[in-house]
Amino acid sequence: MIAVDAILQELEAALAEAQTPDQVEQVRVRFLGRKGKITLLGKETDFRSLSAEERRQFGSQLNELKRQAEEKIAAALADRRHKATQMAALAARARLDLTLPATDRRLGALHPISLVQMELEAIFEGMGFMVLTGPEVETEYYNFDALNIPPDHPARDMQDTFWLEGGYILRTHTSANQVRALEKYGAPIRAIFPGRCFRYEAMDASHENTFYQLEGLVVDRDISVANLIAVMKALLGEVFGREVTVRLRPGFFPFVEPGFELDQECPFCDGQGCSVCKHTGWIELIPCGLVHPKVLEAGRVDPEKFSGFAFGMGMTRLAMLKFGIPDIRLFNSGDLRFCEQFPVVL
Ligand code: FA5
Repeated sequence: MIAVDAILQELEAALAEAQTPDQVEQVRVRFLGRKGKITLLGKETDFRSLSAEERRQFGSQLNELKRQAEEKIAAALADRRHKATQMAALAARARLDLTLPATDRRLGALHPISLVQMELEAIFEGMGFMVLTGPEVETEYYNFDALNIPPDHPARDMQDTFWLEGGYILRTHTSANQVRALEKYGAPIRAIFPGRCFRYEAMDASHENTFYQLEGLVVDRDISVANLIAVMKALLGEVFGREVTVRLRPGFFPFVEPGFELDQECPFCDGQGCSVCKHTGWIELIPCGLVHPKVLEAGRVDPEKFSGFAFGMGMTRLAMLKFGIPDIRLFNSGDLRFCEQFPVVL
């Protein structure tokens, strides 16, 4: 009398479409709600037209249909709820995706000296230079004597040098690496020595007691001032991103002959004169010269066969120029806000 199978099939098809617990509930309402298809079967049938036997049969069919329908709906509901929980768990796990960048990360920043040092090392490595380091606690010999700096030179004075016990000092310049490298590697050699230097000096906006230099040493056959200028121009062109004009003035350092001060045309005013270059149009940048024969001899290199050039740039000063840092004391201030301003270009 009741098309039980047809209705159950219809219900199953509707449940198969229902993806969420809410949609299953809508199906339940459609079939078992107050105006649901199955509920209405009981309400709309005219029982008076049925015999007692038919009424009994109808009643039991309807009850069986309701029971089966409720069972199927309950199973579908349990299934969709389970799936919904699984989806939520998956979504929660997806929110914990460890491959995503963290939202509140606070990356450190490289110190501007490190940035400049890395850039300079890359430039010099491109020109075939080795990058070497030496001790910060140095002997008087490598810092002074081997560099043709006589005992009465003012650099040995208490004013300039931090003296340690046992004849050691804190190196006053990276030139202390020159003879160490010549002894170890001989000639020909192309090397740079970046590092920290120390001087017993009064501090002001451009002088620190602890600062960085980058020394360069080239020893080979027939090295001349022309090679020195070419390397300096290539270097400064890379650092400042354009061709730079340089000039050499005589400068005295006991370990070079001839010795120079290499000035760069002021990049801030193109040589017109400004406060950075103290209105001279030039910035004193790199002391340099041809390696003194006595230094070659100290490094057991024959000055009759080999010649070379050396330079010792103030890396801290170069960083000030490159980044427009007005006061050298900022470098060692330990203030993170200072470091965080500089672009990390790796
Ligand atoms: C020297 O130290 C020589 N060794 C350089 C050299 C090397 C000459 C090879 C010839 C051949 P000078 O004392 O001028 O030179 O120092 C070199 C650079 O270090 C200076 O131009 C300056 O940029 C930097 N410098 C020196 N003293 C300080 C300081 N107290 N604070 C910061 N930078 C300094």
